[in-house]
Amino acid sequence: MAVLVSGRGSNLQAIIDGIEAGKINGEIVAVISDKKRAYALKRAEGAGIQTIVIEEDSREAFQRALLDCLSAVDPDLILLAGFMRLLSPAIIQSFPGRIMNIHPSLLPSFPGVQAQRQALEYGVKVTGCTVHFVDEGMDTGPIILQEAVPVLEEDDVDSLSARILEVEHRTYVKAIQLFAQGRLEIEGRRVRILPPAPVKEEIV
Ligand code: GAR
Repeated sequence: MAVLVSGRGSNLQAIIDGIEAGKINGEIVAVISDKKRAYALKRAEGAGIQTIVIEEDSREAFQRALLDCLSAVDPDLILLAGFMRLLSPAIIQSFPGRIMNIHPSLLPSFPGVQAQRQALEYGVKVTGCTVHFVDEGMDTGPIILQEAVPVLEEDDVDSLSARILEVEHRTYVKAIQLFAQGRLEIEGRRVRILPPAPVKEEIV
């Protein structure tokens, strides 16, 4: 897996911890950031994972450099974990059905940035998180898993974000493991979750 980050990296940490705890059968081969100061890079270094920083002034140069980098790393799965840029169509087409994102709302409500603020301002009573495959739109790809959290009377953006973040971590780990087990099948807009493979009985 390659993980793309821009900031704090708590979802990256949840994935690292999930791998260490045996909840994900997989390995992170690179953490790629568009910000050299992202704290996520420190977390990756702490876990002994290769880090790559891509900082380019123009959008086109950035996207080209990212595609080159991903092609070189050649991961089975690309995970966006607090990565705050849209991917170019060329990148998305190079990894069909192999890019996932986590978003802090119940999509299709509140796509884009500041989803938690949007939810508070709209006045919804329930929000949550969504893990989805990435397509060429913004937060529009086929939905893999969602988990809801309540919006409480006294919530502000920070308290609501923290409540959502907690469920993000476990939801992302679950979705990644389903992918690792080959249990996700995309059918148009729907993602089918296949039952676990039967345990093979040993023939004595
Ligand atoms: C998370 O809440 C993630 O869902 C959100 O940014 C935060 C990153 O936190 N992503 C988006 O809003 C994408 N549009 P983290 O760096 O601690 O994982």
